[in-house]
Amino acid sequence: MKLQCSVETLGEIVVDSLVLFVPALTKISDKNLRSLDVVTDGAVTTLLESEEFTGKNEEIAVILNPPEYEATRVILVGVGEKTKLNADSFRRAAGVVSRSKALQKSTSAAFVLLGTERDDYHQATIEGYLLGSFKQLEFKTGEAAECKNKLESITFVLAGRKSLKKIEKAVERGNVVAEGQLLVRRLVNTPSNFLTPTMLADQAKDLARKYKFKYRALDEAAIKKEKMGALLSVSKGSQEPPRFIVLEYNGGRTGGKPVVLVGKGVCFDSGGISLKPGLNMHEMKGDMAGSAVVLAAIVTAARLKLPINLVSLMPAVENLPSGVATKPGDVVTSRKGLTVEVINTDAEGRMILADALDYANKFKPQAVIDIATLTGASLYVLGYSGAPIMGNNEPLLKRIMAASEKTAERTWQLPIWDDFRNQMKSAVADLHNSGGRAAGTAAAGAFLENFIGDWPWAHIDIAYVDVEPSGRPYIPKGTTGIGLRLLVDVLSNWKRL
Ligand code: BES
Ligand code: MN
Ligand code: ZN
Repeated sequence: MKLQCSVETLGEIVVDSLVLFVPALTKISDKNLRSLDVVTDGAVTTLLESEEFTGKNEEIAVILNPPEYEATRVILVGVGEKTKLNADSFRRAAGVVSRSKALQKSTSAAFVLLGTERDDYHQATIEGYLLGSFKQLEFKTGEAAECKNKLESITFVLAGRKSLKKIEKAVERGNVVAEGQLLVRRLVNTPSNFLTPTMLADQAKDLARKYKFKYRALDEAAIKKEKMGALLSVSKGSQEPPRFIVLEYNGGRTGGKPVVLVGKGVCFDSGGISLKPGLNMHEMKGDMAGSAVVLAAIVTAARLKLPINLVSLMPAVENLPSGVATKPGDVVTSRKGLTVEVINTDAEGRMILADALDYANKFKPQAVIDIATLTGASLYVLGYSGAPIMGNNEPLLKRIMAASEKTAERTWQLPIWDDFRNQMKSAVADLHNSGGRAAGTAAAGAFLENFIGDWPWAHIDIAYVDVEPSGRPYIPKGTTGIGLRLLVDVLSNWKRL
């Protein structure tokens, strides 16, 4: 996609579709809308008076062949009430536009955000467009495989040169962030026979070479040497060997302590011997979403040249039943030395995260954030609408929730109470990996807490925000890629805690 900015007048810009992002209005006060109304013999006035289009969020109207305009059509899209505008108003509106017939048939478009030259609104607009038009066609054949979007270029039109540089930067940033999120969606959607732990490592390796950050992957022998007994207890039942992927990007001060990201990388979660029911089990190919997010986050940090030292850890395994799989009741020793009784082999995410969190100590981190499709119980906490977060450091959790506001990737804090800590204590080992159904999401956080070091830590459970059940403006039905915009925003504004 070619992206650019221009200060041409709306009439002279040569594109298939001129898209105007319009705040809710009762009469025409914007001068661009007024000139459009004049040359079209009052088409805008008619739309307003008939209430066919009043600029409400996600409303859309098309005016074909406007006289004296070079554009073939003008698309009006509502962003909602002026007093309630935020970045997501534009993200949503752009998502609606991206899925409109008119725009899908265009090869070139110009976008105009009427009455605002805010950089965050422009960033959100390109994000909304790119995220909304996402399609994964690589596993289709024939006609379906050809059903690509035609749009090749978007020109953002500004009133003057004053904000040109600032907006150019914002649009480029939005492009890079959206591409990061699309990478997450692509990886999460990839079937497990096309994305084994080894293949995930290969993808990380290719991206590291392309975007110039460091890549290393521990193979099974190296993982054994590290004594990651909790992780190995999960991968044991699978023919596919595990990988422990370590990525490093150094954009900050040489020798400066890094922020470490840890992402759950279960390439397929059948539940193991505690086998999941068949219904929707195929969705468990996406149980590596946390890993995909931390991989895409480091790619995005490198592309944006963020002034920060960053490490991404991706413990990658398959959780399958077999004659040699871990059995309920087995006791394993984690890298840290704590013993864990495996009550339920389907509580595997916390096992691999436990060893990864302990491994994070090697980097003397200034903070660690883990992200994981960890608990089915999160559906009953915040549904599809927000990700529960937990941790040991209020300022870090506040920062994540503030980033949620800006990126519209919602999070909300759950407590780690002693009740939950006690719930995770085993009668036969130090801990067990399942303490029953009560407070499943918070109890999982309490389990992870046993493995952290002396650093600020936050845990993000994306089990259900990773799934969009029906389709929203810029989130087509399916996987959302949520977590990427959130983490990139946290990292972009990083200060020592
Ligand atoms: N990967 C699942 C969690 C999950 C469920 C993610 C549904 C997305 C959609 C996780 O490994 C799991 O199975 N958790 C168990 C834990 C339980 C056995 C303590 C769960 O939530 O049922
Ligand atoms: Mn599981
Ligand atoms: Zn899982």
